[in-house]
Parts: sequence; C-alpha cells; structure tokens
Amino acid sequence: MYSEKVMDHFTNPRNVGEMADADGIGAEGNPVCGDAMKIFIKVKDNIITDVKFQTFGCGAAIAVSSMVTEMAKGKTLEEASKITKASLAEALDGLPPQKMHCSNLGADALHKAIEDYRSKQEKK
Ligand code: FES
Repeated sequence: MYSEKVMDHFTNPRNVGEMADADGIGAEGNPVCGDAMKIFIKVKDNIITDVKFQTFGCGAAIAVSSMVTEMAKGKTLEEASKITKASLAEALDGLPPQKMHCSNLGADALHKAIEDYRSKQEKK
C-alpha cells in the first residue's frame, strides 16, 4: 500500500526535532484526523539552511514531514514556496488516495514557516 520511499522516511525520518533559534515556524493541523505538524526553518541570505520538524500524526504525515524537510533544505524561499502537496506526494513515489490529505499538512506547514519568517523580517 505504501511505496518504499514512504516506508523509508516513516521508519527513518530525517530532521526530526525542535529548533530553538528558528527564523520561522509553521504549524498546521488537520481537525478531521487530529494530526499536527510543526516545521522550523533557519534562513540565511534568502536560503533555507536548516529545517526541522515535529509531527504527531500518522505514518504518511511523518514520511511527508521528513520529505518536506529534505526538499526545502538548500532552496531559496521562492523555490521552497513552490513545493506543493502534489510534488511532495510525487517525491514519495505516491501516497494512497485516502492519505493524500497528509501531504497537505507538509506543504502548508512549510509555507506557513516561510510566511512567519517574512513577517518577522518586515517587523525588523
Ligand atoms: Fe491525517 Fe495522516 S491521517 S495527516
């Protein structure tokens, strides 16, 4: 039912944890399943230099979180903003139809972290 990539990222998730000095934080949850995800980003010269995540959720949500951190790391803010739920699901070699909503969480939490970073910059 799950691709090898999903199983790999689920059993061996990358970039798990909190980031005390994050430049941007994005939190997203799904009220239907109750899963929640937080993404932390570190930004230097418009590039996402580090990403971490904390996810309380299903296996697909954990695999999506892990994948989104890998995809965003090293990208410019503009490039990372273009990561979508579809590109995330594709990078994981697909998700079962009933699990597609889990990839929304990953893309939305990342976009919120970028927004959070930008609004903090504006206030500076
Ligand atoms: Fe809700 Fe996976 S079941 S995020």
